[in-house]
Amino acid sequence: MNQELWSAVDTFVGDALIPADPVLEAALQSSEKAGLPAIQVSPAQGKFLHLLAKLQGAKTILEIGTLGGYSTIWLARALPSGGRLVTLEYESKHAEVARANIARAGLSGVVDIRVGKGLDLLPKLEAENIGPFDLVFIDADKPSTPEYFQWALKMSRPGTLIVADNVVRKGALADPASTDPNVVAMRRLHAMVSAESRVSATTIQTVGNKGYDGFTLAVVNE
Ligand code: SAH
Ligand code: DHB
Ligand code: MG
Repeated sequence: MNQELWSAVDTFVGDALIPADPVLEAALQSSEKAGLPAIQVSPAQGKFLHLLAKLQGAKTILEIGTLGGYSTIWLARALPSGGRLVTLEYESKHAEVARANIARAGLSGVVDIRVGKGLDLLPKLEAENIGPFDLVFIDADKPSTPEYFQWALKMSRPGTLIVADNVVRKGALADPASTDPNVVAMRRLHAMVSAESRVSATTIQTVGNKGYDGFTLAVVNE
């Protein structure tokens, strides 16, 4: 098992199941050209998020961590007409690139990009009474993931799906001795979810062109 093989399989899956998409490809290209880090979800993961949003019948989506809007476009495309997606991004340059990518995707009327720190913007969203959200995708600064999970719960309704990316951290999630703040945060997320009677949750490990990582899925109990 190795990275080369995982990437080859991601390429195979992409070729087999994810049709060439000029809008998504242009989003990746313009993000790269602008110097954004290539840390967006893979095509297979983007489509997975899209399918989750469809399965969920999501009409309202909250995303924390926009980058160039690649996952945003996958998620927003799952919305029915009249659906809305709010996405939070700290770096104004990332938000600017995302805004152009989202416009090219014809989704400017659907996607609301807010620029600022997630933990500053979330209380504002709450004050605006903008929720509850049917799906929340947490994918920003990793040490804040547990706090974002608390906010996601606050802005949820029974049945809301909360997805947190990058929780497995090459397996370090299982290492109680790790002092990496990202790992410590993901271990804290699991302790929090474990103690939280309002959700039912699991974590799925993934390999692919982004290496070995995984995501947590939590559904708010009805
Ligand atoms: N969801 C994107 C990838 C997001 S990468 C995709 O898959 O396409 C993580 C993003 O979170 C980066 O753009 C980074 O600038 C942003 N970020 C970092 N700290 C943040 C914070 N405190 N609040 C909001 N966004 C933050
Ligand atoms: C990285 C990957 C991610 O999916 C993310 O959201 C942030 C950073 C990374 O590989 O560094
Ligand atoms: Mg991520």
